[in-house]
Amino acid sequence: MSTDLLSTLSQTLLMGPGPSCVPDPVYSALSHPTIGHLDPRFIGIMDEIKGRLQTVMQTRNPLTLPISGTGSSGMETCFVNLIEADDPVLILKNGVFGMRMADLAQRLGADVDELEFEWGTPVIPDAVKEKLARKSYKIIAVVHAETSTGVMNPVAEISRLLADTESLYLVDCVTSLGGMPVDTDGWHADAVYSGTQKCLSCPPGLAPVSFSDRAISLLKARKTKVPNWYLDLTMIINYWDGDTRAYHHTAPINMLYGLYAALGALLDEGLDQVYARHKAAHDALVDGLNHLGLSMAVSEESRLPMLNAVNIPNGVDDAGVRTALLKEYDIEIGAGLGALAGKIWRIGLMGHTARQENVDRLLSALKTLL
Ligand SMILES: Cc1ncc(COP(=O)(O)O)c(C=O)c1O
Repeated sequence: MSTDLLSTLSQTLLMGPGPSCVPDPVYSALSHPTIGHLDPRFIGIMDEIKGRLQTVMQTRNPLTLPISGTGSSGMETCFVNLIEADDPVLILKNGVFGMRMADLAQRLGADVDELEFEWGTPVIPDAVKEKLARKSYKIIAVVHAETSTGVMNPVAEISRLLADTESLYLVDCVTSLGGMPVDTDGWHADAVYSGTQKCLSCPPGLAPVSFSDRAISLLKARKTKVPNWYLDLTMIINYWDGDTRAYHHTAPINMLYGLYAALGALLDEGLDQVYARHKAAHDALVDGLNHLGLSMAVSEESRLPMLNAVNIPNGVDDAGVRTALLKEYDIEIGAGLGALAGKIWRIGLMGHTARQENVDRLLSALKTLL
């Protein structure tokens, strides 16, 4: 008999940049019987998922659905459906995921301008305003919650700068959705995407996206075909909407059961309560870290509740502490990325993980290790 590697797994306390801990009702949902992807019972579940996503994403956009793939497939869906060669695109960049956006837009042959801000600090709206005064863009893209640095970008303020322009507004909400308000319609955002493994507390594998009517009109008016078959929304929509559901690709049925249950749990708890729980866990963590002599890397007004960037004190062994947390305490925290590698730890308080008892468990382990 070969060893069953799965039977050796414990539920590590996931306090990194994602995935987050998955609650039991979501695990149970995943194990329901797989049925056909065109079965009317499954279509009913799909319709309910769309409605639940509209509520959590605060939008009336009919084109609101989960793409089969992780958060990056959501990013790719937005860019690949909206960009044609030479389109002027502005990426507001202050971390790894802004960089990824720029890379993606460049691969599609867009005319990409990057407005860069210091990592660990937010996008400055005045700088965006100046840029917009000099050039018109088809798309302005920004990351709401920059997971690589723990910074919250001022998406509502940026949206007001776009009010008098023709530009489409594209917002990455991978880390923010489900942990803080994502006001798709209030921000007049035209394309928003997320992922399931952060504050939605589902395993990774789906990417909710939402497109405004304006974005759909642009999509329909394209001069060229969407250059990616799998993510072409003009075809995917025929499976997710309308009376006759047409096969596009086999939906990841059980993953969608998981998302259905995760969204249901979120709405049952109440969005305001969920956001307050994230904020309370964040405040308790910051307080406890301060007591241990640790400082936060991001200034208070721009901190994300669900992703806490903590300065690693001089002389402390970054990898040594993370390894000891995992091996001795079964707690995962994240390392710094790119320019911040070795300088910060990233402590996630996402979704089901964002609870006082988890904060206490981590603080007590850190106290012993440090
Ligand atoms: C802000 C942000 N955007 C995009 C992604 C990409 O998502 P995924 O790793 O699920 O493909 C991530 C993942 O951490 C992220 O944090």
